[in-house]
Amino acid sequence: MRLLVTGGAGFIASNYIRHVLRTYPDYHVINLDSLTYAGNLENLKDVEDSERYTFLKGDICDNNIAGGLEFDAILNFAAESHVDRSILDAQPFLQTNIMGTYNLLEIARQRSCTFLHVSTDEVYGSIEQGFFNEESPLMPNSPYAASKASSDMLVRSYVETHNIHAMITRCSNNYGPYQFPEKLIPLVILNAINDKPIPVYGDGMNVRDWIYVVDHCRAVDAVLHKGISGHVYNIGSRNEQPNIDLIKKILTITANRLDLDEGNLMDLINFVEDRKGHDRRYAIDPSKIERELGWQPNMTFDEGIEKTIMWYTSNKRWWERIISGQYIDYYNLQYGERLET
Ligand code: NAD
Ligand code: TYD
Repeated sequence: MRLLVTGGAGFIASNYIRHVLRTYPDYHVINLDSLTYAGNLENLKDVEDSERYTFLKGDICDNNIAGGLEFDAILNFAAESHVDRSILDAQPFLQTNIMGTYNLLEIARQRSCTFLHVSTDEVYGSIEQGFFNEESPLMPNSPYAASKASSDMLVRSYVETHNIHAMITRCSNNYGPYQFPEKLIPLVILNAINDKPIPVYGDGMNVRDWIYVVDHCRAVDAVLHKGISGHVYNIGSRNEQPNIDLIKKILTITANRLDLDEGNLMDLINFVEDRKGHDRRYAIDPSKIERELGWQPNMTFDEGIEKTIMWYTSNKRWWERIISGQYIDYYNLQYGERLET
């Protein structure tokens, strides 16, 4: 198969591309990414020499971008993804997440290729008790979540109206290697290592449901190969935690592993003003994908968080180049330029 993976220089899709190239010796992956601040080609340094990998610098909103490329499926991971940034300025979220998805849907329609849309559990909004399933209404609360919900609706409409072959996945919060350090888990690890305050929004009792990124990638792959067109699949590993408990757990492991004083790390915790519209709890029911596609998470949270902390501590150069800004487009590629072996 030839896959067009969008946003492949970001956190989840770079893990996905690595997973595909390792799992399927005959698959070719084209990574289409515009390299925003969140795109980092260093995330794929270990696979960039593969003959089965092509990088193309381009914007998913550009309707000429796929000209000359051949592929059987589009996997749309590209997005503006950080809730806090969407509160400060929603415009790029609407542009990329809505208009970009629309543009890719048009390409999928014209070429009759499969479209897999990677969405989020945040489209369901916040839930005090119980779990969201695939039939739950969409009640997004942040501009990020609203832009993702809009794109989900567009995908649905293209299935109903144009009969394209498309699936939607809605995953819970991911963690693992290569996550950009503005997100909670890498931020806590790096601030602990660098002796910086750890901002905790509000009372720290907001609950998130965490999944190891490779388990998410395996689930996306199951949907690509076995999913039914028009269906939505929730992805999660039944691992809810209040933020403050999660933060303390990370600090304890970091102190043990790096032989640092646990009390000093705990003192870095700094309660700050709450995020506007901060969703209290996300919790999804993943039983449909488990039952219908036979997917199960492989990683327990204890193993996954340990692995992640060790990854950040042993990949100092990776995150130092992010903090210094040196990572940005280090190949100095022109728009539309390709990188292939
Ligand atoms: P990320 O911010 O790390 O990566 C996004 C990538 O998209 C970057 O490489 C960026 O350069 C690229 N991009 C942005 N705008 C683009 C455009 N207009 N054209 C081409 N490329 C563009 O994001 P992530 O955390 O890896 O999330 C990937 C996807 O998974 C997103 O669609 C997100 O909504 C979804 N998701 C994320 C999580 C999570 O916990 N991170 C959970 C569920 C779903
Ligand atoms: P985040 O990683 O931004 O993911 P999302 O908002 O998509 O769930 O945040 C996870 C949780 O951590 C969320 O409840 C907000 C909270 N948070 C903090 O308390 N402090 C921080 O500095 C950040 C970035 C997030």
